[in-house]
Amino acid sequence: MKALNALAICTMLAAPSIASAQFTKPEFAIKYRQSTMFIQGQHFGRIGAVVKGTRPYNQDEVVQNAMIVEEMSKLHWPAFGPGTDQGAPTRALPAIWKEPDKFQAAGKRLQEEVQKLVATAKGGDQGQLKAAFGAVGQACDGCHEDYRKD
Ligand code: HEC
Repeated sequence: MKALNALAICTMLAAPSIASAQFTKPEFAIKYRQSTMFIQGQHFGRIGAVVKGTRPYNQDEVVQNAMIVEEMSKLHWPAFGPGTDQGAPTRALPAIWKEPDKFQAAGKRLQEEVQKLVATAKGGDQGQLKAAFGAVGQACDGCHEDYRKD
């Protein structure tokens, strides 16, 4: 019953979008956010390979990868609703639910930096791409440092 209440609160707080779909179990929310984070990491890493020079530059590919990262960066947040701190193995730290405003701000920062990355990728300047990639990377690492177990 307690878990059900938490889910009801979660649904009320979530922004009205496709991403606010209700999770029927905390386990599903945990799996969902781990999946969206994983996909985000895969496509961000492909841009990283280009930036580091281990993969040749192809603008269309970079734009596509950046847009997938952007899409993922919108999806995680409702999956961190109340009551989803447990229910399946998770690396999410309790601080997420103790200071939700700060966690949300870290999520917002990610989305802002990712939007800049998409715009930069579309612009086609490789020097700027490196800088924009680095800024997103800092947003990822900053949050992981505070809110994710190693
Ligand atoms: C606002 C906080 C926050 C930001 C920003 C963030 N993450 Fe995460 N990330 C987390 C948390 C919390 C987890 C642990 C989720 C869990 O285990 O329930 C996680 C997990 C992951 C995982 C492991 C997924 C798995 O397989 O379990 C990867 C990979 C990842 N993040 C990549 C990224 C990348 C890449 C970025 C930036 C583009 C990013 N994250 C930005 C909070 C964040």
